[in-house]
Amino acid sequence: MYYPDEVIEEVRSRNDIVDVVSAYVKLKRSGGNLFGLCPFHSEKSPSFSVSPSKQIYYCFGCGAGGNVISFVMQYENCSFQEAVQTLADRAGISLPEEEQDGAARQEHSLRSQILEVNKMAAAFYYYQLRSKSGQPGMDYLKGRELSDETIHGFGLGYAGKYSDSLYQYLRSKGIGDQLLRETGLMVFDERKGMLDKFWNRVMFPIMDVNSKVIGFGGRVMGDGKPKYLNSPETRVFDKSRNLYGLNFARRSRKKVMIVCEGYMDVISMHQAGFVNSVASLGTALTSQHASLLKRYTDEVVLSYDSDGAGIRAALRAIPLLKEAGLRSEVLDLSPFKDPDEFIKAKGNEAFQERIDQAQGSFFFELKVVESRYNMADPESKTAFFREIARRIAGFEQEVERENYIEAVAQKYHVSFDGLRRMVGTELMKGIRTAPGVSGSADLPSSESSSFSSGSARKRGSNADEGLHRSQCMLLTWLTEYPQIYPVLREYVAVEDYSEGFCREAAAMLYEQLENGEPVPARIISHFTEAEDQKKAAALFNTSEPGLAGEELKKAMRETIRKVMESGQKNAGTDTGMDMAALKRMIERKKKLENLGRLEIPL
Ligand code: UTP
Ligand code: MN
Repeated sequence: MYYPDEVIEEVRSRNDIVDVVSAYVKLKRSGGNLFGLCPFHSEKSPSFSVSPSKQIYYCFGCGAGGNVISFVMQYENCSFQEAVQTLADRAGISLPEEEQDGAARQEHSLRSQILEVNKMAAAFYYYQLRSKSGQPGMDYLKGRELSDETIHGFGLGYAGKYSDSLYQYLRSKGIGDQLLRETGLMVFDERKGMLDKFWNRVMFPIMDVNSKVIGFGGRVMGDGKPKYLNSPETRVFDKSRNLYGLNFARRSRKKVMIVCEGYMDVISMHQAGFVNSVASLGTALTSQHASLLKRYTDEVVLSYDSDGAGIRAALRAIPLLKEAGLRSEVLDLSPFKDPDEFIKAKGNEAFQERIDQAQGSFFFELKVVESRYNMADPESKTAFFREIARRIAGFEQEVERENYIEAVAQKYHVSFDGLRRMVGTELMKGIRTAPGVSGSADLPSSESSSFSSGSARKRGSNADEGLHRSQCMLLTWLTEYPQIYPVLREYVAVEDYSEGFCREAAAMLYEQLENGEPVPARIISHFTEAEDQKKAAALFNTSEPGLAGEELKKAMRETIRKVMESGQKNAGTDTGMDMAALKRMIERKKKLENLGRLEIPL
């Protein structure tokens, strides 16, 4: 159900964000805002802020943010529409029955049509597997020791030898080519027309958290290539936001989630009783995966293949998980390749033992880093400790840092104080090079190895990031001091903001300011995806705290200059400069020159 803008705006404005959030989070006033412990990541000191005037929330720790609708979406783990429904009920607003705007309705029905076709395809493959011609598929799955119950539970299927059976079937059900193109289930051949993408494979339907079939993986029943063929990304299938098996694992009520690489790993683990396992399906774990996991757990056990690729994948996943507020441990499956092979060879209990023995991710990293240095060479050994010190400096809490310093000092027989000083040095570097702090000098690249910790990655603040930050600062100030708008608009036009997200938000904010008050929360509900809402909330939460009076004015002038100068560069690259454009450029140049004297009405 899609609602017109005005309806959404009414629902939003009749649910005060402070009231709604207070039902879940204990908030305390501090200045104009309220603060509390962020419900979206674990923390000990409050960095979650709610602004009654902007009607938005923002966490300075994990970057969660949005308006009251986003909050409900994020907290209740529901869709935009469901959140609007919940809040409408709360405020006693009755929503219109079938008032949809044309484009939204089309998009909505296209998505649901794709899901509908996927479901039909899954059913088709399911029955093929159980038909006479599906015997090779059934033999293959049985050969991999899957029980009937498991095969049924995961909805496994079979795509037969003909390359158009699914196509013919779906056509006979009245599905048109246009729609079929959108499903990713077909490929187009110049000569033969539409053909099935999958044939002669056992089929794994991929489901989202609500058990809707969003795509498929198909495995050859032997050694052919590619081993697995997967649906392309479609309107309903976004690989970076879905985890295989999560629809079951979310109900497991276990404290941890096990994350592995493949379809078969998840299936064997579930069959063995480890129903809290999911897979990122051969693609690297993304930060979206991490925040998805964070909705269901605080701790992840990485159970990747024990080869080099698996180790690299684990190393990449650890900082992402940490950033999402998840603790992580790494499972050692050697000498076996993956969980599926381990369980087949050793059984459930041995697997459980490995889980119990899993190493905290720091010690896993430690071991990998150690293997990259020559510990017999004093110079290399020192470099090793420096690298470790940098990793330890990445921990936010002092107690945590001290504990790791102690553990490392003990393990390698080095002095606690010496190591602590090294960590101190790394911490200082981190502060000097943190984004937003002037005079930052990036470390030479040899220092920031592939081993990216949270802080190491933040170090890469470049010109683009600085510019983005400046633009966000202007938008934030406009919401906080709307009286500067008439002045600011003469200097920075909507087109001066970088194309895409920033410019879109700037256009909406400028329009609101033209017509009266800024309503940042309304801009946020323009975006219906949680990730976009979070980005939008960040746009309006980029002020420099503590600045006031002349200092603030000075910062504003500098920021205006930065944004204008980059906007000018972009304008300069336009071809076909006419007289009017030339005139505008000269005016701009004058404005830039006189910017130092600009009076800002605060
Ligand atoms: P693996 O090669 O480790 O597969 O790839 P697996 O799960 O152990 O497969 P089995 O046991 O041989 O059946 C891990 C995951 O990477 C993706 C799949 O999602 C697979 O489960 N993958 C792998 C592909 O998408 N395509 C491929 O060709 C291979
Ligand atoms: Mn395997």
